[in-house]
Amino acid sequence: MPLLAVRNLSKTFAGQRALAGVDLDVDAGEVHALVGENGSGKSTLIKCLSGYHQPDAGGSVQLSGEPLDLPLTPEAARAAGMAFVHQDLGLVPSMTVMENLAIGRGYATGRGGRVKWRAERARARAVLLRFGHDVPPDVPLRNLAPADQTLVAIVRALQDAEQGGSMLVLDEPTAALPDREAERLFAAVREIAASGVGVIYISHRLHEVFSLADRVTVLRDGRRVLVDDVANLTERQLVRAIVGRDLEDRFVPAPAQTNGDVVLEAKDLRGRRLDGATFAVRAGEIVGVAGLLGSGRSELARIVAGAQAPAGGEIRLGGEPVAFRGPRDAIDAGVVLVPEDRRTQGAFVGLTMAENLTLPSLPDFFRAGRLRHRDDRRVAEELMEEFGIRPNIPGRRFAEFSGGNQQKAVIAKWLHRRPRVAVFDEPGQGVDVGSKAEIYRLVRAAAENGSAVLVVDSDLEELELLCHRVLVLRDGCVAAELEGAGLKRDRILEHVLISQEAAA
Ligand SMILES: Nc1ncnc2c1ncn2[C@@H]1O[C@H](COP(=O)(O)OP(=O)(O)OP(=O)(O)O)[C@@H](O)[C@H]1O
Ligand SMILES: [Mg+2]
Repeated sequence: MPLLAVRNLSKTFAGQRALAGVDLDVDAGEVHALVGENGSGKSTLIKCLSGYHQPDAGGSVQLSGEPLDLPLTPEAARAAGMAFVHQDLGLVPSMTVMENLAIGRGYATGRGGRVKWRAERARARAVLLRFGHDVPPDVPLRNLAPADQTLVAIVRALQDAEQGGSMLVLDEPTAALPDREAERLFAAVREIAASGVGVIYISHRLHEVFSLADRVTVLRDGRRVLVDDVANLTERQLVRAIVGRDLEDRFVPAPAQTNGDVVLEAKDLRGRRLDGATFAVRAGEIVGVAGLLGSGRSELARIVAGAQAPAGGEIRLGGEPVAFRGPRDAIDAGVVLVPEDRRTQGAFVGLTMAENLTLPSLPDFFRAGRLRHRDDRRVAEELMEEFGIRPNIPGRRFAEFSGGNQQKAVIAKWLHRRPRVAVFDEPGQGVDVGSKAEIYRLVRAAAENGSAVLVVDSDLEELELLCHRVLVLRDGCVAAELEGAGLKRDRILEHVLISQEAAA
């Protein structure tokens, strides 16, 4: 008998079927991967389990053979021992790490209901350390890097799963995590599963599915199209189940290096981590930036795009020195940044998709002081078509699109401006295999149209496939530069790791 048995679960949003009669079995001690294209219904399924969404009538959920009352409430899900890490993490940036860890669980209280702060602090620190995460409990969450914030959300769920939990559900937990942190998470997940907890693991990184999961369920258009032991499947078979066809040339090799003019030059750039980085990017060129977490990767992206002031050094654009006072200056000069934390930094989730897509070019839509809504809609519709953003409903609220489609939208809104310099921080994060190939195509098209492209990425395969040249950052400097035949993920890794060994 499975630990969790979901039968015939459906969910309709405003007449649209997001889930259509899905079954899912998870055994005790099993890591069960849940995969599928952006918008296929993965998050909807687990939000029905967590009590966030109310499923349509007709389905059932059993845990340890006992039927659960549907719709579930968050309290009932919790009482049943199910712990969740949602795609948007569910953290509060203004609260401290410790406060975030206590969300949903509450604090230990003493006589008169007074919170035992000292005990709480010690407890928070112990839990974090237990999962190999050394952050101070008292700092506001927003001061942490996205990877560290993800780890806090994960630790919060793991602490529950550890204490007599039955199920742990992780919705794309590694989307913001570099390889080394992801490995730490895998170790923790394996340990939790070994203790008899059932784990549902959602990811677009198929190598994670193969290395971590025992079984995999594939959703397509809200239906289950495959369930099998991972050991029975090849990557090709899995990809075919996900996208419904063979992805022939899943990754087209990068085109030959161009000889365009130098557009972007950075000389001796300094910041908090950066310590004298020097490089140049030509029009039509896609240059990758690799390095460990903390090597200055994201800082480099922010400084180039005016989102952070450099502590020293020089940036030239088309040969002219520039000093951006903020992102607005950079955008006016044609330099755009697609940030790492796209959903919170790159979008207005309360507005519609059309508004989000056209906001950066809003002045184009004003005529005699009035917003020309009709054009706005038409442009948005075209962009959604071109960038494969589904469903193609410009008037729908941004928040109601699936995670991967939100990410494509943020990329679309910047690329359609034909920037002189486009800076991407983790462009493939959170998008499905089919969309990834799409995004690569779009990044390449931007370069072919004459943009100078800078790609900061922790996915080495992505760097190899997408870039003409890769800079490896170490101790804040460009320590190596790979191109041509030398541009292979193994070689990048070697160069990245030299610093890790030196530090050890
Ligand atoms: N609150 C909502 N209101 C209306 N439609 C929604 C809502 N949430 C999700 N949907 C729709 O339901 C479908 C499934 O979305 P879901 O978020 O479950 O996809 P997903 O498989 O998690 O995708 P991703 O890989 O991009 O995270 C999509 O078409 C989405 O637009
Ligand atoms: Mg999702």
